[in-house]
Amino acid sequence: MSRKTYKIAVLPGDGTGPEVTVEAIKTLNAAAAKFGFTLDMTTFDWDGNRYLRTGVVLPDNAAETLRQFDAILLGAIGHPDVKPGILEKGILLKLRFELDQYINLRPVKLYPGVETPLKDKTPEHIDYMVVRENTGGLYTGTGGISMKGTANEVAVQSMVYSRFQVERCLRYAFKQVLSRHSKSKPWKGLSEKDIQAGKIGQMTLCGKTNVLTFVYDLWERAMYEIAPEFPQVKTDYCHVDATCMWMVKNPEWFDVIVTGNMFGDIITDLGAITQGGMGIAAGGNINPEGVSMFEPIGGSAPKYTGMGVINPLAAICSGAMMLNELGEGRASDAIEQAVIEITSAKLKSMAAGKMGFSTSQVGDMVAEAI
Ligand code: IPM
Ligand code: MN
Repeated sequence: MSRKTYKIAVLPGDGTGPEVTVEAIKTLNAAAAKFGFTLDMTTFDWDGNRYLRTGVVLPDNAAETLRQFDAILLGAIGHPDVKPGILEKGILLKLRFELDQYINLRPVKLYPGVETPLKDKTPEHIDYMVVRENTGGLYTGTGGISMKGTANEVAVQSMVYSRFQVERCLRYAFKQVLSRHSKSKPWKGLSEKDIQAGKIGQMTLCGKTNVLTFVYDLWERAMYEIAPEFPQVKTDYCHVDATCMWMVKNPEWFDVIVTGNMFGDIITDLGAITQGGMGIAAGGNINPEGVSMFEPIGGSAPKYTGMGVINPLAAICSGAMMLNELGEGRASDAIEQAVIEITSAKLKSMAAGKMGFSTSQVGDMVAEAI
């Protein structure tokens, strides 16, 4: 029997992106060897340096090219010599939109041995998933500036959501609850009464129905209309400001949080710091019917470029998420277990320069543990 081969497009990107990507690939290959499949990687230099050299942010056929792959692994986008917005919009957001990666999946999970700024909270309290809508809302760029540069100038940027976008995101989030729990192993935040009622987990819609009475009204109505399709999921609603508060005070109240693009961007940085920071926070831009792109949620950390001090675990965990999406769940779990071994026993800190090991040593340790 021939080994299964997955075609992976690698976009190392800017700053420390390439360094963490090397370590992610190292651990992915270790998992592939162990579980009997092959990753056929092709690297693309679509990054800030190429833009500075050529003036081209992304080739016109980039999305078409990437559609030929099974998945995309991305390091980081953002170059100190390029005006903010050009690369982010021109590479990252463009790919998310053109490949219709309508879900941004961001686990908030505190691993053993990792320090959290939340008092008295341990891994059993911080373990939830944020499903951030990834192609709509304030990110569509709908709006404009008129009378620019005058005292009368007006800027508008609209939060745009179609029912279609909202429904497909909500359905994905409902299914996410089902994939995290089972009848025999329900989410531990449920009450006896919920379990009696057949619930196995909870989905919290994070919105702002008291002010954004159009957009989040649509989200809320859609959620309650779809809920009967998922009788095992308990539905819950929380305003975004209160969500931030509870993410700090009582993170154990959350199982799956679903929200729009802008709120999702903001609350996942808060979530990331509660799980140990950008060094460990992973994510995936997912098109469940197409090609998905996996990236650490932090930026390119230019000041640490080339020093070998950046934490590669976020990139490594993003690689694990990629394997899960490809259907290699056991290999994905093996990477995660190896990461847990390293965070519990070896790493002093998740912060750049404070790990007690270099970037490549951390990658080596994870690969070895696999
Ligand atoms: C993220 C980033 C991006 C976003 C930026 C770089 C465009 O902050 O992935 O969270 O806002 O989505
Ligand atoms: Mn962000």
